[in-house]
Amino acid sequence: MSLGILYGVGVGPGAPDLVTLRAANVLRSAPVLALPRSSDHGRSVAWQIAKPTVGEIPGQERLFLTFPMTKEPARLRPYWDLAFGQIGERLERGLSVAFVTEGDPFVYSTFIYLLREVPRRWPGLRVEVVPGVSSITAVPAAAGIPLADGLERVAILPATYGVEDLTEVLRAFDTTVLMKIGSSMPAVVEALESLGLADRAVYVSRATMPEQRIVRDVRAVRAEHGDCLDMLVVFRKDRSGVLAGEPAGTGESRGGRL
Ligand SMILES: C[S@@+](CC[C@H](N)C(=O)[O-])C[C@H]1O[C@@H](n2cnc3c(N)ncnc32)[C@H](O)[C@@H]1O
Repeated sequence: MSLGILYGVGVGPGAPDLVTLRAANVLRSAPVLALPRSSDHGRSVAWQIAKPTVGEIPGQERLFLTFPMTKEPARLRPYWDLAFGQIGERLERGLSVAFVTEGDPFVYSTFIYLLREVPRRWPGLRVEVVPGVSSITAVPAAAGIPLADGLERVAILPATYGVEDLTEVLRAFDTTVLMKIGSSMPAVVEALESLGLADRAVYVSRATMPEQRIVRDVRAVRAEHGDCLDMLVVFRKDRSGVLAGEPAGTGESRGGRL
């Protein structure tokens, strides 16, 4: 029996109408959807985003897979083995599996770990990646902050994994995107203040979702533990006035529109 196809499908940052047509087609036609979540009883963010698009497909299997949020490979390994084994069992029966990821599958996604396993576990497997709208572009769009123009340079950093080199990065790049903020928030805001960049940063959580929150004075979120879907965009160039009605330094706005 030949192997099924493994798809990595990005479903965008949250808004159902940011799911691409290609993603919708693959998600509706795959016999198995693999849906990552961070705990056995938690919700899958990827599935919450995809669900309105996919709807009910008779006979389609929704395989929820747990990948705990931890930096420790030793804790993750047994979960990976279990999840990848379940996916492999379907592929080996000739069923195609669409692994659904929030945003884009090639941006900080478990799909990348799965892909790494392919040559060893399923040599010759056909893999297709369906790109999605990443939070890296969705957040700047929501906040009205262009990422880069002309010769400007952009840095993307996972803040949770250490902010030791943050000052250096903030100095070296025109725009810095800080993902996975978590407990690093106070240290990040402090670094921004010490470089005089606190007024050149925007905090956005749950971009494009109904709960979207935009904070233009990042000092206001200094004491917060980041939401699991939040980001800081720091821009050295004065971007005020780029979008009408949104001068830099205003307070906070909620909801899905600028
Ligand atoms: C595990 S990474 C996944 C990134 C995803 N693959 C992408 O392309 O956007 C999770 C991080 O993405 C960012 N993120 C994802 N969705 C977001 C959203 N809707 N609003 C703000 N940040 C988001 C946050 O920084 C979060 O910590």
